[in-house]
Amino acid sequence: MTNKLKYFIGNWKMFGDFNSLKIISKINNFSYIHRKACRKKIVICVPNLLIHYFNNKLKSKHISLGAQNCHHNDGDGAFTGGTNASMLKKAGSEYVILGHSENRSAGETNSIIKKKIFSALNNNLNVIFCIGETLKEKKKKRTFYVLKKQIKDSLPKKYDINKIIIAYEPVWSIGTNKLPKMNDLKKTIQFIKKEYKKIFRTKIDPKVLYGGSVNNKNIHLFSMIYQIDGFLIGGASRSSKKFIDILKNYYK
Ligand code: PGA
Repeated sequence: MTNKLKYFIGNWKMFGDFNSLKIISKINNFSYIHRKACRKKIVICVPNLLIHYFNNKLKSKHISLGAQNCHHNDGDGAFTGGTNASMLKKAGSEYVILGHSENRSAGETNSIIKKKIFSALNNNLNVIFCIGETLKEKKKKRTFYVLKKQIKDSLPKKYDINKIIIAYEPVWSIGTNKLPKMNDLKKTIQFIKKEYKKIFRTKIDPKVLYGGSVNNKNIHLFSMIYQIDGFLIGGASRSSKKFIDILKNYYK
């Protein structure tokens, strides 16, 4: 069993309601009971309207809550339907997912994502920055080019490295039950860490998670790649049992 800190981050997407407090409470209890067993950080990113509610209802918090996006405007403004980073922070969010492929495919560009990251950091949120290639890009062998560009064009040059976590999510793997070959995944994670250090002229390794169809049945495959610093989990994070089983099976 590894002693390195690992992240288990849930992305509920547009699912959940006030009754979902049951799910959050079970995960929170599990985290408390196993607080000494392994070095882990659990974050659940929920729809915005649930952040404040969950935050208030959990008497003692052993997990963190996060949001799934924020507006790029750093502050208030005439943006109907928008939610800025400061609002998320005040609601009790500690993390925010930015650059998710579902938002990129709806028109989010690297430069918009850069503004969002800047605003999130400005408001003291931790950023889960998603990068990943599409199937077409993978087939054209452009994966490394795409990943490098996403990192270069979206991450601000000067910031606290501890506030950003990169999540490598191959777009073709999200919600499809298709996984990368473990050897390819290991090389990609190594590439991301190496390129990041080159781009930002640092010796510090960034945290890099894997996301895409992670579940309680396949998690053991990933535990062999020690370079992976954790997981961004979509579908399987909406069931407390499935999410907890992922943790149990990872540390088996
Ligand atoms: P998935 O989603 O685990 O359902 O594939 C991952 C994500 O979208 O972050």
